[in-house]
Amino acid sequence: MSCIFCHIRSISENFFPSLSKLTNFQFSILLMSTVILYSLFSLYSLQRTWGNIINFESKHIIIYSNFPIIMQAIAKFAVQNGSNVTLISKNQTQLIQSKKFLLSYIAHENQIISTFLLDPQNFSQIQKSILDSIKTSGLPFLLFINSEENIDGKFQNQKISDFESQMNSNFFAIVNIIKAILPQMISFGLNKKKRSEKPKIILINSQTNSFTFNDSSSFCASKYAIKGLCDCLRNEFKAFNIDLHLFSTKKLSKFSSDQKIQQSKQESLQKRFIEAEKIWIISKKSYFN
Ligand SMILES: *[C@@H]1O[C@H](CO)[C@@H](O)[C@H](O)[C@H]1NC(C)=O
Ligand SMILES: *[C@@H]1O[C@H](CO)[C@@H](O)[C@H](O)[C@H]1NC(C)=O
Ligand SMILES: *[C@@H]1O[C@H](CO)[C@@H](O)[C@H](O)[C@H]1NC(C)=O
Ligand SMILES: *[C@@H]1O[C@H](CO)[C@@H](O)[C@H](O)[C@H]1NC(C)=O
Ligand SMILES: *[C@@H]1O[C@H](CO)[C@@H](O)[C@H](O)[C@H]1NC(C)=O
Repeated sequence: MSCIFCHIRSISENFFPSLSKLTNFQFSILLMSTVILYSLFSLYSLQRTWGNIINFESKHIIIYSNFPIIMQAIAKFAVQNGSNVTLISKNQTQLIQSKKFLLSYIAHENQIISTFLLDPQNFSQIQKSILDSIKTSGLPFLLFINSEENIDGKFQNQKISDFESQMNSNFFAIVNIIKAILPQMISFGLNKKKRSEKPKIILINSQTNSFTFNDSSSFCASKYAIKGLCDCLRNEFKAFNIDLHLFSTKKLSKFSSDQKIQQSKQESLQKRFIEAEKIWIISKKSYFN
């Protein structure tokens, strides 16, 4: 031990000759204080990195989800943080309810919450809505997408149209929206080098993109397709400074079947809301630092 101490001492004296005037006791106090100060500083920088350093103020965030609860939980934080938020959905009631819910979280006067009712299969309509939203709210910094339809059934009993319908809502809706937003995100991403400043696409998908369960061939296949799409796009988008993340959550896989639960509906909605809130918090921690 004392040898390590002598070693540190002699190295320090090489750099700062005046240290040789100190007794061993004084030197060890100085050494300990340095170590403590250094640790405190490291902890502080870690906390800065983990903490809320990304500024969402007046950034434009676009959210697509066919689950009102997920849309609202994610949008709530964006609105609280001063972002301009665009909600897109194929369900008019969902848009009206969500906007009403969000108005009470507005952080400053010139903040905009816009809604677009669209058919996620109609590419030119999506393109137009996104361009319109950019005119009022700025280039898109962040896109959250969550699109999920679940028709359970044995393969031999399912209709071809069941497969088509789930591929349309779980896969093609997402392809359409990403493709429509990409040119605008590229404009935003130019010259952004810091990870926290790069535009991001965050897909919220159930974990069934990597395992299957019985009687869900059409559903699981569409989820695997999304995983494949993300793995390809993630690399392609690096060239444009755009980060793409696939957020797979076990909990979300229950959301669709939750609709079957009749009793304690309010309680299960509350649970979903809290789970969706966690997605925002986790995304923020892991994708913006
Ligand atoms: C952003 O939202 C978080 C809650 O998620 C809040 O703690 C924080 O103060 C907000 N930041 C701003 C700038 O409003
Ligand atoms: C539209 O959303 C509302 C609530 O947000 C829901 O009650 C209704 O079932 C939805 N309609 C369709 C066709 O999904
Ligand atoms: C797609 O949306 C446009 C409006 O933006 C509409 O004119 C067109 O008929 C739609 N196409 C289909 C196939 O619904
Ligand atoms: C958000 O909307 C307000 C009002 O139109 C605008 O002043 C602000 O610049 C917008 N944010 C961005 C990033 O364009
Ligand atoms: C899935 O189906 C197989 C074949 O019918 C059956 O043996 C198995 O127990 C089922 N698994 C579950 C979890 O129901």
